[in-house]
Amino acid sequence: MRVLFVCLGNICRSPTAEAVFRAIAAREARDLVVDADSAGTAGYHIGAAPDARSQQAARRRGYDMSALRARVVAPEDFERFDLILAMDRDNLSVLRRRAPRERRQRIRLFLEFAPDLGTTEVPDPYYGGPNGFEEVLDLVEGAARALLAHLRRERQAEPI
Ligand code: 4NP
Repeated sequence: MRVLFVCLGNICRSPTAEAVFRAIAAREARDLVVDADSAGTAGYHIGAAPDARSQQAARRRGYDMSALRARVVAPEDFERFDLILAMDRDNLSVLRRRAPRERRQRIRLFLEFAPDLGTTEVPDPYYGGPNGFEEVLDLVEGAARALLAHLRRERQAEPI
């Protein structure tokens, strides 16, 4: 199962989701074969490491994002990834417009998998204060666990 996390710049929310999902899957879902990547809908920061504020907040919780580099969503992504998860509705609508019609069902809001979080979007922390980066981590940790639980249920429902 290949999952692509997508936000606007690929330097705050989606690399956080990639790093957190990888770490939690490695720790808590070793029975699942999952791979993760991230990308942005915009190319403002291509090749850049994640935002220093995101990296610092993630590091305090034990996640290392330092090796990640920003890239833009590419046409091949709609073929390569089973699930393409948007952080907010702007990302979702851009992705839906760019995807070939027959791949649109692979594109979802990340937080759809975690209805208990009480919100459907991961807010953009870029222009806000430090609380925004903690909120991103709280939402992403909850949604990563909920997504892994969903993938586990889906696998159990599959015929062998
Ligand atoms: P991200 O945050 O989409 O979570 O990576 C942003 C990063 C950069 C910009 C906006 C949002 N920007 O306008 O440069």
